Amino acid sequence: DLYNFRQIGPDTKVHGVIGNPIGHSKSPHLYNGAFKSVNFNGIYLPLLVDNVANFLNTYSSPDFVGYSYTIPHKEAGFNCCDEIDPIAKEIGAISCMIRKPDGKLKGYNVDYLGAIAAIEEGLRASNGASNGSGSPLAGKLFVVMGAGGAGKALAFGGKEKGARVVVANRSYDKAKQLASKVGGEAISLAELENFHPEEGMILANTTSVGMKPKIENTPLPKHALKHYSLVFDAIYTPKLTRLLREAEESGATIVYGTEMFINQAFVQFEKFTGLPAPKQLIRDTLARNT
Ligand code: ATR
Repeated sequence: DLYNFRQIGPDTKVHGVIGNPIGHSKSPHLYNGAFKSVNFNGIYLPLLVDNVANFLNTYSSPDFVGYSYTIPHKEAGFNCCDEIDPIAKEIGAISCMIRKPDGKLKGYNVDYLGAIAAIEEGLRASNGASNGSGSPLAGKLFVVMGAGGAGKALAFGGKEKGARVVVANRSYDKAKQLASKVGGEAISLAELENFHPEEGMILANTTSVGMKPKIENTPLPKHALKHYSLVFDAIYTPKLTRLLREAEESGATIVYGTEMFINQAFVQFEKFTGLPAPKQLIRDTLARNT
């Protein structure tokens, strides 16, 4: 019952995840179930693809409307877009592609959109304020640890939401490069320990420090964490990193790395269907399958 083949008709919209290998992807299960739950006339297939450009040229009918990209095709997908979301362009990778009504293929990086959405949700929940259309990140001092791919994504995402961005990285040069691109400040990771120009700052870790198996490591010592009201860690193995544990002990709201993945599924569903995501169903499906 995963694919509802009997329901496929002339109006069915085709989606899929493009990768190689693709057999183990959980995405078809996730999106087909979610489509069905809101009565969206769509299907989502695992697409084992060698050459992304050839695939897109072959399946160019308007019914093929949405793709997710996974290893090793995120860069090839990027190169096949007619249009690219400005932040995905800065990051240099896409994870989602939509065929617009005019036939143009537009690329997005939903990984970064998911991370920012997870942080915003954490802030809204802790403020008890669900109303208001502005981002709860607006005006906040947002410290991003790390200046690699994920650091770039978070820094650009924070800037887009109106946060004041600080990039903290082990190698200061890379911090400086990224900070100048987002119009923020740069600091070395070592200096961050004594950096607290104000209270209630937001912290995001995108370094690999604290990842399994070296779970006793942490990118920022506990005494520094009391200046932050929310801490997000992009690491999801383990789910509760030492950084998050100590942040929680220091009174901060914590946002798990797994929330980034869950939120990117919400964002992607909404881009595919134009409908609000069935959030609880998506959470339950991911919890069962991961
Ligand atoms: P990703 O795509 O996940 O962001 P990446 O591009 O390899 O991964 O970036 C890794 C980030 O983790 C970098 O910011 C790196 O800092 P440097 O630029 O100084 O290398 C950071 N990082 C990795 N190991 C680290 C460590 N032991 N201490 C501090 N930072 C570390």
